[in-house]
Amino acid sequence: MDSISLTRPDDFHLHLRDGAALASVVGDSARQFARAVVMPNLKVPVTTVDQAEAYRRRILAALPAGSDFQALMTLYLSDNTATGEISRLVEHEHIVAVKYYPAGATTNAEHAVSTVEKVYAVLEKMSELSVPLLVHGEVTDAGIDIFDRERVFIERVLAPLMQRFTQLRIVLEHITTKEAVDFVRQGPDTLAATITPQHLVYNRNALFQSGIRPHYYCLPVLKREVHRQALLDVLSSGHARFFLGSDSAPHARGDKESACGCAGIYSAHNAIEIYAGVFDELGKLDQLEAFASHNGADFYGMARNTGQITLQKTDWTVPTTLPFADTEMIPFNAGEICHWKLMTL
Ligand code: NCD
Ligand code: ZN
Repeated sequence: MDSISLTRPDDFHLHLRDGAALASVVGDSARQFARAVVMPNLKVPVTTVDQAEAYRRRILAALPAGSDFQALMTLYLSDNTATGEISRLVEHEHIVAVKYYPAGATTNAEHAVSTVEKVYAVLEKMSELSVPLLVHGEVTDAGIDIFDRERVFIERVLAPLMQRFTQLRIVLEHITTKEAVDFVRQGPDTLAATITPQHLVYNRNALFQSGIRPHYYCLPVLKREVHRQALLDVLSSGHARFFLGSDSAPHARGDKESACGCAGIYSAHNAIEIYAGVFDELGKLDQLEAFASHNGADFYGMARNTGQITLQKTDWTVPTTLPFADTEMIPFNAGEICHWKLMTL
């Protein structure tokens, strides 16, 4: 197949940042996706409905003229989140989920949840109102090896949580391991997962290819090849509770090329094209549409998009750098050939 058309896709896990950085990146997502679920981990986290509505207005204001891109907002869960804030969500249709970061797990997660017991009342309210919980599934204990953090989170936190809140809708975000694939696959219909491009394309060797490679560093960190294969297997299987969440997470070049480099990979420049390449290599291009455009909307209970996009099999070179606020960033696969291209109308 040299060309494929599909329903306009959605990105169910996206970091857009704020201010000048937001203005640099939002057009990339809007070009490919009809909607995106926007993460709330700004420097001042988006913990309230009012903050989420204000952030949404800033996103819409930063869009290229004429764009109909929809920002679907999330609240950042903290020990202090009030159940009343959750009750307000029923009247705010653009705020679609609540994000659970274990405190300290990732970028700007220091104000997040210290222990899950602290948010039981909020989770109860979310179950009642059918608000999905988006989970960064990694424990943060210093004693747990970084490559085991997702597996241990599933055992120690997620499985017990699901036993306690059987009705709670949960998305295990950016899954990276065979254990996560198996857990979601065997789980109830209230459980789903997003998968990023980087965890499909690379294993952890990419971090150490002839030297240390900060632009391949994200959280959860890249894993062994056996885990990448498990992700590819579930993609091939066409399972309906796995869907697209790029986790595109831009950082200025200098913040990554540093003695303590930030976690995050900027894939929004060509996310849908990277996913198309992955499905093509699997010989499963016909499954791209369900993963990118149907499964997520179905799980969230949203209408599927109506428009279409077309991708063509054409080689082009990813830029080596992109502008980012008053500086620059290095995108996913910078300077390399991408085999699929989104056609503009
Ligand atoms: C994300 C970021 O920079 O905001 N980084 C990342 O490596 N994925 C946060 C996150 O989703 O963990
Ligand atoms: Zn993320």
